[in-house]
Amino acid sequence: MAIFASSSSSVVVRIVLVFLTISESSLGVRGLSIGINYGQIANNLPSPSRVSVLLRSLNVSRIKLYDADPNVLTAFSNSDVSFIVGLGNEYLQNMTDPIKAQNWISQHLSPHLPQTKITSITVGNEVFNSNDTQVMSFLLPAMQTVHSTLVNLGLDKQVTVTTAHSLTILSGSYPPSSGTFRQDFAEYLQPLLNFHALIKSPFLINAYPYFAYKDNPNEVPLDYVLFQPNQGMTDPNTNLHYDNMLDAQLDSVYAAIKAMGHTDIEVRISETGWPSKGDENEAGATLENAELYNGNLLRRIEQRQGTPARPSVPVDIYVFALFNENMKPGPASERNYGLYYPDGTPVYNIGLQGYLPELAMDTDSASILNVSFRFLTNSPLDFTYNHCLYTF
Ligand SMILES: *[C@@H]1O[C@H](CO)[C@@H](O)[C@H](O)[C@H]1NC(C)=O
Ligand SMILES: *[C@@H]1O[C@H](CO)[C@@H](O)[C@H](O)[C@H]1NC(C)=O
Ligand SMILES: *[C@@H]1O[C@H](CO)[C@@H](O)[C@H](O)[C@H]1NC(C)=O
Ligand SMILES: *[C@@H]1O[C@H](CO)[C@@H](O)[C@H](O)[C@H]1NC(C)=O
Repeated sequence: MAIFASSSSSVVVRIVLVFLTISESSLGVRGLSIGINYGQIANNLPSPSRVSVLLRSLNVSRIKLYDADPNVLTAFSNSDVSFIVGLGNEYLQNMTDPIKAQNWISQHLSPHLPQTKITSITVGNEVFNSNDTQVMSFLLPAMQTVHSTLVNLGLDKQVTVTTAHSLTILSGSYPPSSGTFRQDFAEYLQPLLNFHALIKSPFLINAYPYFAYKDNPNEVPLDYVLFQPNQGMTDPNTNLHYDNMLDAQLDSVYAAIKAMGHTDIEVRISETGWPSKGDENEAGATLENAELYNGNLLRRIEQRQGTPARPSVPVDIYVFALFNENMKPGPASERNYGLYYPDGTPVYNIGLQGYLPELAMDTDSASILNVSFRFLTNSPLDFTYNHCLYTF
């Protein structure tokens, strides 16, 4: 684990800042409140401290992790970046035990607070996709126990407790106003929604219009899923007009929640994205489509748009994902959701410019500390750096 070296043992090394990309529209320069999922199921990713330089240069203000990787949380200490950290499904049973929950928080969260801004914990990911009713039954008790532990530690106001769901928890989503949850999950979801309302935490959904297109490429209009100009659809019950599928998916989740008696819970998108490559049978998984989806998505985030049913609530979105992850199992698309290749090269140009510093060193256990960087506006070589220290 990386420990900050004391200055007396520090070694000044030369670093090379690699210019990654620039575009005519430079979204980043205008400042984006973009959230990114930083998945690490790979054996070729740059060190968290290098990634922290990349993400800060992109002005990324919010990051979602699937664990509570201390190397990442340390690399972002004293930054303005806020974090969602994750507890995997394998922890749910233990988290129903107050002592184990307290141990987890004191080992994984407390050491990073307050210097790293951790604002949320997702307890489990897509638990209802697991086909494991035991895990489903642990979900709410685990969330309750983690929340009470935070209350006891006086941290519940700064760290919210939630979980992320796949859209497969819906049995119907068309038209959006008739969205409903699967009946067999209702016994878990009703008390879960009551808990969200009680502690005022958001309901997170991983929403992929890509899956809808892939499963039905002859019927789902590509422009509708890619946020391109198209005629869209009008919900006959509400007369609301939808010109993209992501809005429709989000409003169908709002409708499903309302059908269970709640209008007091905010829905956020914890993952959305589009793969730039896929197997032959994965319709739509192309570089061009990924570039359109994510480019249009970023523009939409920048415009702070709401959905047709909630036009005044800007949709809170975390893009999936920062890097292509070469160790992910499943079809080829799973390993190709990244905005960046592991070497820091953008997979396509959607107007995000950033730097991944490259260490001119013969050890890859070293990482950079205290690298100054700033945004490029004109010249690709207009950057500053001062020194960096060895860490092991
Ligand atoms: C980064 O984003 C923030 C808020 O979105 C904005 O105020 C700031 O100017 C941006 N900084 C740069 C260097 O783009
Ligand atoms: C759950 O707790 C048991 C007993 O303390 C421990 O052996 C096990 O490793 C824990 N599981 C996880 C996923 O941490
Ligand atoms: C759950 O079951 C469904 C239907 O039997 C299957 O398609 C899916 O792959 C299963 N999911 C997991 C995570 O095992
Ligand atoms: C980084 O280094 C600069 C110059 O060496 C120094 O002034 C600054 O305080 C350092 N910042 C941190 C966070 O250590």
